[in-house]
Amino acid sequence: MTAQVSIPHRVSVEENIVERLYMRLNEIDTTSRARHLVAYTPTNAEIDRLFERSRLEIGTVTTLHVIKRVISANPDTFHAFALRARHCVEDPQAEGFIAWLPLTTAGRQAMLDGTFSAADPAAEHVAGQHDAPAAIYIWGLYAPGRLAVGFAWAFQRWSTPLYRDADIYARAVTPSGRRFVHRVGFETASTQDGPVTSDLFVFRRNPLDERPVYDSHPNAAKQYTVTVVRNHDDLGKVMAIRSSVYLAEQVCPYDEEFDGNDFAATHLLGYVGGEPAASIRIRCFADFAKVERLAVRHQHRKSRLALVMIRAAKELCRMKGYTRIYGQAQKRLVNMWSRSGARPIPNAPEITFSDFDYVQMLLETDAHPEAVTLESDPFKIIRPEGQWHAEGILEKSSYRPATRPSVDHPTIRTDRPNRRTA
Ligand SMILES: CC(C)(COP(=O)(O)OP(=O)(O)OC[C@H]1O[C@@H](n2cnc3c(N)ncnc32)[C@H](O)[C@@H]1OP(=O)(O)O)[C@@H](O)C(=O)NCCC(=O)NCCS
Repeated sequence: MTAQVSIPHRVSVEENIVERLYMRLNEIDTTSRARHLVAYTPTNAEIDRLFERSRLEIGTVTTLHVIKRVISANPDTFHAFALRARHCVEDPQAEGFIAWLPLTTAGRQAMLDGTFSAADPAAEHVAGQHDAPAAIYIWGLYAPGRLAVGFAWAFQRWSTPLYRDADIYARAVTPSGRRFVHRVGFETASTQDGPVTSDLFVFRRNPLDERPVYDSHPNAAKQYTVTVVRNHDDLGKVMAIRSSVYLAEQVCPYDEEFDGNDFAATHLLGYVGGEPAASIRIRCFADFAKVERLAVRHQHRKSRLALVMIRAAKELCRMKGYTRIYGQAQKRLVNMWSRSGARPIPNAPEITFSDFDYVQMLLETDAHPEAVTLESDPFKIIRPEGQWHAEGILEKSSYRPATRPSVDHPTIRTDRPNRRTA
């Protein structure tokens, strides 16, 4: 038995099957895709045969004896696959299988801290057949060719009430296995200290609910959502909101509102449903971050949105390692900022600009336990701003080998003079 997700990578036809599963596991339409598949509990003789076949083809980390011990404790851990066209109930000939371990809380913890044994799982790490597991560990997947869709079939099983809240873990050690788990929505399993190991991946259930407040848009289940501004369209929305609030309502001169700092700042954009409704700007200095330009469109005021925006800004600053967040609050709004934990800085002078009087305030907070630091995983440091919780595009590119295209296989001739400059 192998503990790796070993989707075949030897034959191109088989790779094509994997290509077709290029969507999150929960989005795969198994009703049409799995039509040619039969999944069932195999006989003892079939388990022996499958074990031997997969041992020879993809290796194993455990023994037949351990597999049978686990199956007898929880028969739901092993399912065989066959092609429907070749399947005969009287003489079943399984051609592939999936084996999973429903982990107890202790089992999940052991897996995350590296003490879990996939070769010989401790009895207390594997949940009983009728107990909701804390996590699902894909122990082995041998699903050559068209049987690859058996993985999506298994996901259907994991969507039943018993399993549906459990995150799914898998080890993928080969490049094609890693490509496969990425395609179907797994990400590198990490704790606040960084990746557990580079080959342990997790498919999170309800990933939308787990996103931090500053990266919560879109989410149909939430009334107010927020995103970091990442493109011109988002920045256009921020400009529109601030124009309507500051230029139109507060009669702020254009050059004072758009003060030259907008391309040197992080902006958060708040939504009510699909409608851009609020914005806030963050600028970072050596030992403090400054939060400014909070604006909520007038039709969305007297709601929780202003506080959601402040909380989002605060959390983003904490993730960047800041514990001191500075603001200059319009005097009439000191109470509102105080509700978020900011306090007027003792003895700091009040200041006046753009026709309003301001109180200097400081929000002192604790360090975020998962803040990005020099000790963080290097790939976490290069994730898109505000998406430090999810695997980034550059991590995905790291599964490609370093072929150094411009050095080893140059396609652009550099030895000829450029016509325009020649
Ligand atoms: C400031 C703002 C984001 C607050 O959002 P909101 O949805 O109005 O929030 P609330 O309804 O909770 O009001 C927050 C406080 O501001 C006060 N407030 C809001 N608009 C006000 C106004 N035009 N005049 C005086 N007070 C006002 C409210 O009375 C409330 O006071 P309290 O905290 O003492 O109860 C929003 O009013 C806004 O965008 N204003 C224009 C831009 C601005 O002034 N930004 C702040 C820069 S520091």
